[in-house]
Amino acid sequence: MDQSITFDLDLIKRYDKSGPRYTSYPTALELHEGFGEAEYLQHIQKSNAAGGPLSLYFHIPFCDTVCFYCACNKIVTKNRAHAVPYLDNLCREVAMQGALFDKSRPVNQLHWGGGTPTFLNYEQMKRLMDTTREHFTLHDDDSGEYSIEVDPRETNDRTIAQLRELGFNRISLGLQDFDPDVQKAVNRLQSKEQTFAVLEAARKEGFRSTNIDLIYGLPLQTEHTFAKTLEQVLAYAPDRFSIFNYAHMPSRFKTQRQINDADLPTPAVKLEILQMVGQKLTDAGYVYIGMDHFAKPDDELAVAQREGKLYRNFQGYSTHSDCDLVGLGVTSIGRVGDAYMQNYKELDEYDAAISQGKLPVFRGVDLDEDDKLRRAVITQLICHFELTFSKIETEFTIDFAEYFAPELENLRLMKADGLLDLTADGIQVSTAGRLLIRNICMVFDKYLAQKQQQFSKVI
Ligand SMILES: C[S@@+](CC[C@H](N)C(=O)[O-])C[C@H]1O[C@@H](n2cnc3c(N)ncnc32)[C@H](O)[C@@H]1O
Ligand code: SF4
Repeated sequence: MDQSITFDLDLIKRYDKSGPRYTSYPTALELHEGFGEAEYLQHIQKSNAAGGPLSLYFHIPFCDTVCFYCACNKIVTKNRAHAVPYLDNLCREVAMQGALFDKSRPVNQLHWGGGTPTFLNYEQMKRLMDTTREHFTLHDDDSGEYSIEVDPRETNDRTIAQLRELGFNRISLGLQDFDPDVQKAVNRLQSKEQTFAVLEAARKEGFRSTNIDLIYGLPLQTEHTFAKTLEQVLAYAPDRFSIFNYAHMPSRFKTQRQINDADLPTPAVKLEILQMVGQKLTDAGYVYIGMDHFAKPDDELAVAQREGKLYRNFQGYSTHSDCDLVGLGVTSIGRVGDAYMQNYKELDEYDAAISQGKLPVFRGVDLDEDDKLRRAVITQLICHFELTFSKIETEFTIDFAEYFAPELENLRLMKADGLLDLTADGIQVSTAGRLLIRNICMVFDKYLAQKQQQFSKVI
């Protein structure tokens, strides 16, 4: 398949509105407190009967210092002792959840996210991994996709060697921007030396995929400053880039109020940056995976996309479509069978549940047939930029044209605008429409009308 993009400024301007990132459908906004431990247990039972591999997500919420832009679920503290009771409870949760899932189900994918997982010291990380091995069936031959997010300011050669020894083989480094003024404006001072030392160490230790996180739209950024950052990183050729659009929502994320609005780049500058990013990465031989992600053509994500096997979950794009996802730790979201569920978001509530020997699930949502159908359509479009109606018709026994008549009306307008091609057989997203894939997915989102203002801008 053609994995290129075309930057159409006029089209992007016209379609620039808020929308979900579709790491799930329905989005997390549909989770409700009528779904709790009892419902979760029922879904686990059904999923054990169906069998299949597992994916585990661990949330380590702590960070040493706050980055003003940050929209992640985190707890900022200099006090490393905070990790001790959290780790105790997380290990208890691993034991509780591990007892519920069949041991015959291998853990094909595992991810530690945050916050900053490397806030934990080696002994703590080892304890968490050992506990996981004790209660779940992890691969011992490096064949699982085991990944971790690291903050290079918190990591050195030794940490990287230790992470590899613990079983991690994919790594993602937070960077955002190298420009000193931008770094000051967002309270994240991070040198090139420490960042590239971590990247090099990861390569040396045999990490199979290295990713760098950047953000465009941060205060004081210009096309020129961001191009410089990008060039410096490209010289080290990571396997993947996540280049996020800065989600500025100061009413939701208090620390973003420390960012001076007047310093934010204008929409026109952001578009210049985006265009430059697309051009530079394409020139350097990367392909556009979709929704903020670029990868080398031989990276497993790019290969999975060409083979029609890409999937999207809460961690972004993934090659493991068949796994039930077990969320562990405060705020974690899981997907087991046809339901999504989330753990308590506040640490004291999470601690209280675990201390009482209860699963910390506090809300969730059961998918109905319509949700499953729309999820299949959105996942296919966001991962592969094309959809064959007959496949969906066979899977869900519907007549696509009849079921989605109003949606197809909207798509005709998008076709006229050049975002996609629409035939009697299916949808093919154009190279110009790929950067607007969210907008195309939004057409199929039945919950969106009442919720739109709660999402960040598409570009
Ligand atoms: C949990 S952090 C990565 C690990 C580690 N805490 C670090 O910062 O190095 C996840 C990523 O989310 C992205 N991010 C955080 N806040 C964001 C925002 N407001 N808009 C867009 N991306 C954001 C950043 O690129 C960040 O690297
Ligand atoms: S970007 Fe990373 S290090 Fe910074 S506050 Fe957010 S989670 Fe913590």
